[in-house]
Amino acid sequence: MSWNHRHLLDIQSLSAEDILTVLDTARAFKAVGERAIKKVPALRGKTVVNLFVEPSTRTRISFELAAQRLTADVINFSAEVSSLKKGETLKDTARNLEALNADIIVMRHSAAGAPHFLARFLKSSVVNAGDGAHEHPTQALLDLFTIRERKQTIAGLKVTILGDILYSRVARSNIWGLLKLGAQVTLCGPATLVPPVFRQLGCRVTYDLEEAIAEAEIINLLRIQHERQRQTMFPSIGEYTSLFGLTQGRLARTRPDVLIMHPGPINRGVEIDSEIADCGRSVILEQVTNGLAVRMAVLFLVNGGKGPQEIAA
Ligand code: CP
Repeated sequence: MSWNHRHLLDIQSLSAEDILTVLDTARAFKAVGERAIKKVPALRGKTVVNLFVEPSTRTRISFELAAQRLTADVINFSAEVSSLKKGETLKDTARNLEALNADIIVMRHSAAGAPHFLARFLKSSVVNAGDGAHEHPTQALLDLFTIRERKQTIAGLKVTILGDILYSRVARSNIWGLLKLGAQVTLCGPATLVPPVFRQLGCRVTYDLEEAIAEAEIINLLRIQHERQRQTMFPSIGEYTSLFGLTQGRLARTRPDVLIMHPGPINRGVEIDSEIADCGRSVILEQVTNGLAVRMAVLFLVNGGKGPQEIAA
């Protein structure tokens, strides 16, 4: 088990073995988080910059805490009060951060490909924390970690991703990761938001919600990505909820062992009934908790770590 990537830009370019290396390393870091002293010196003397040019709650805080747990110095860059507002280019901003000896730049950006662009010229490691509608690799890794922890294995598992697939980076990263680990992936939502072209990746596509959720062992709900939609994709929120919202009545017609997942932020009463978000089958907050261990693993690995064998039990 050996990781050899300087950046984490997407899930598409990872192998199944790479993904399992991250998950196993995260498991070791989760055990560290259960000790009285939760910090390890793995990144002592290193600097991690959180370069978030788009809003975030979970991802940014989770990366900040992960870097702190690894004893790195952490800088949180706020686009709103930065020189990006004065016309500085992203390239110049990133090169200035590197000039200040940033070892790892964690970036969220509204433009697909922005982290790949930085990785072409920076000596620092680059971690994609979400780029436009393209990918959100650490979200998929924490989702896979949560699924594996709850269901023991991912191969053969029936996973339904429900909602706005077209504009969702979480959907793309999850699809790549789930398929690489052998899951059966079903996509469902309004036809305007779930193009049939996803079948070419190996997913089942259906517009019949009842069919999509009946046999699912995992239902991963996505919110409507209003900020990325450039046109009206369905008549109204009310109609979306009536056709594709996960209601108590619909949940009653699923498997008793189904797990409900959501990357957040959730829109209660739109894609998910409020009671379902808080019910015993929901692992939404567990996903957030696991995100810390997964992001510790990612920072450790892109900084030269090889795998879980290097983390003291
Ligand atoms: N899931 C997720 O990326 O949430 P944030 O936008 O709050 O980081």
